Amino acid sequence: MFVHIAGTGSYLPEKVLTNDDLAKTLDTSDEWIFSHTGIHSRHIAADGEETSDMAVKAAGRALAEAGVKPEELGGVIVATSSGDYRSFPATASLVQARIGATNAGAFDLQAACSGFVYATRVAQGMMQLDPRPVLVIGAEAMSRLLDWTDRNICILFGDGAGAVVLKASDEKDGILDSILGSDGGSVPPVISCTGGTKVCPEDPVGGKMHMNGRAVFNFAVKIFDDTIRRMLERHGLTFDDLSLIVAHQANARIIEAAARRMKQPLEKFFLNMNTVGNTSAASVPIALDEAVKAGRIRQGGLVASVAFGAGLSYGGLLIRW
Ligand code: ACO
Repeated sequence: MFVHIAGTGSYLPEKVLTNDDLAKTLDTSDEWIFSHTGIHSRHIAADGEETSDMAVKAAGRALAEAGVKPEELGGVIVATSSGDYRSFPATASLVQARIGATNAGAFDLQAACSGFVYATRVAQGMMQLDPRPVLVIGAEAMSRLLDWTDRNICILFGDGAGAVVLKASDEKDGILDSILGSDGGSVPPVISCTGGTKVCPEDPVGGKMHMNGRAVFNFAVKIFDDTIRRMLERHGLTFDDLSLIVAHQANARIIEAAARRMKQPLEKFFLNMNTVGNTSAASVPIALDEAVKAGRIRQGGLVASVAFGAGLSYGGLLIRW
């Protein structure tokens, strides 16, 4: 049995926050942010617009494209670190009810920015036991986790959702391979202290994200080509066989460094962080959907994805579309 991506969909909130808007209240500039990250603007969820609302919109688009009815789904997985509720219910349960996926199990998966890649692999495994289609969503309201006075971090993130519908088929190819990894350290380079059991000494009341940006940057560049290379080698393929690389949209400079290491032209990498920013677990599925709609992913094309984030977690997907 092979598992194919039968449809993609995404949703970005209406409100756009530009670097110039941020520079009105922060000691920063469009020049600094763009030259350090490749980001010009990001979308921000409206007051009252929750992660589940964005997920439902992306899901509806992916289901329509796949021609799958909600009641046919065997599972709904939402990869998120910013679900509607801190603990429970799962955002996936809210989405399952709203879209009418009456026969599906539903749960959230938290692996920070790598969440969508993790969820896709979990869904593929589920389908070996029960071949009904699975809806995999990455959805984030990152704006709710940020300290908007911290120029080191708040300039990086945006809100949004992306979704794919996975379908089982006897037709070969589809998702060829995946890799999941974790490099959890004693001093995590990215922490959000909000609402967990641990009181963080550096943030006793919670509500702030802390990040050692340089450590994440160096880690990302290291695992980027290594993850893709390992998947390709297992199939007797090389970087030259790839038609597109759809990576986590954290920072254009990470992707440029990876392109140099892989000796591949930058044109082979899909970039949308310019207008979307880092949407964490939503980043890869939004980028996949935009790449499909832009005609950058064609039937038969070989696509690699790689994601990395807090944990530090990382993962990759190799897909023959
Ligand atoms: N505007 C102006 N100056 C700034 C800003 C800003 N927005 N932010 C930082 N600076 C300053 C710093 O204060 C520092 O000043 P100093 O030298 O006087 O101390 C200087 O710019 C350089 O700061 P660095 O942090 O060294 O800048 P760097 O080039 O490393 O870029 C960045 C920072 C953009 C965060 C980068 O390290 C990065 O993108 N890292 C990866 C982050 C990432 O991918 N995270 C994903 C995980 S998130 C998750 O999983 C939820």
